[in-house]
Amino acid sequence: MRGNMRRSKILSTGRCLPERVVTNHDLAKVMNTNDKWVQERTGIVERRYAEEDVGASDLGYEAAIIAIERAGIKPEELDMIIFGTLSYDHVFPGSSCILQEKLGIPGVATLDVRNQCTGFMYGVAIADQFIKTGMYDHVLVVGAEIHSAGMELTDSGRNVSVIFGDGGGAAIVGVSDDDNRGILSTHLHADGRGFKSLWIEADSCRKKPRITHQMLDAGIVWPNMNGGKVFKNAVTRLPEVINEALDANDIKIDEVDHLVFHQANMRINQYVAHKMGVPEEKVWHNIQRYGNTTAATIPLCLDEMLEAGVIKDNDIVLIAAFGAGFTWASILVRW
Ligand code: UT7
Repeated sequence: MRGNMRRSKILSTGRCLPERVVTNHDLAKVMNTNDKWVQERTGIVERRYAEEDVGASDLGYEAAIIAIERAGIKPEELDMIIFGTLSYDHVFPGSSCILQEKLGIPGVATLDVRNQCTGFMYGVAIADQFIKTGMYDHVLVVGAEIHSAGMELTDSGRNVSVIFGDGGGAAIVGVSDDDNRGILSTHLHADGRGFKSLWIEADSCRKKPRITHQMLDAGIVWPNMNGGKVFKNAVTRLPEVINEALDANDIKIDEVDHLVFHQANMRINQYVAHKMGVPEEKVWHNIQRYGNTTAATIPLCLDEMLEAGVIKDNDIVLIAAFGAGFTWASILVRW
């Protein structure tokens, strides 16, 4: 029930990709992989890697200033910054504080969301609640990652390292001036039983000290993924959470104009879209060019779609993501 609450809306988006392109052929020079394997299994052709000394907050900043300008506001008008990332600038404080310093708006509330592939979605859901209740008018939600700093570029890390890339996206969530348009629903889920299926074991504050030479030597500082298990859970949970959004809004899948998936694997998204009877032309992919940018994939997709004029006013846009944790989520928007 909405009662007399306000409706929130994604007012604008922005994106930032590092310039350096790393192709599958480039990776094949340093590990035992090949372009055919990567493209067939994932759809990925190339990804971007940031240069030394560029952090998630830098990509987030570039994306944020575009989104702020497009929303027609000044940074001072932001009430809160929510930052989704797993590849933080520093262990602490969170990248949201670092971004706030770059934007020059001391005093504004900041929050880091550590929800991996659904970090941006959880961020939008939190923003939606603050806007709906009238507490805030403008919330900046960022998803940005520097995966290139944490990839094991060797044979033993190949199943993970070919997938991920760097990138940042941002959105301003504000008040809708049309009660029928904006964020219709958000559905958030998690299942911690899958936490070791995609994780980095160390450094770890369970250990004293939390980082040792032995950890480095054992290779437990690199991401570890049970790809098959993640894949199976993704193709189960995504249809569930999509149907949850449709049912909650009494909308049929045929009425959806655009299905925007987290870009983890093009084959997962094609499988789910096919299973749900959604035609290819309604599904946006950019994993070919960027790989999996975790918290950044959704704002990167939205920003490209808006720029290309693919998403039009009043279109029904269904956003869905699944990833590490496990966490999964859907957001339904009438644009
Ligand atoms: O955003 C986070 C969420 N993540 C996901 O949703 C990822 C979900 N999982 C996947 O997308 C797939 O599991 C992968 C694309 C990661 C891997 O595909 P797979 O079909 O599950 O491959 P696999 O790990 O079972 O490996 C198949 C074979 C193995 O060789 P053998 O044992 O059959 O001889 C691997 O060693 O492919 C080999 N392999 C590679 N070969 C070339 C693994 N990685 C590579 C590689 N290049 N990069």
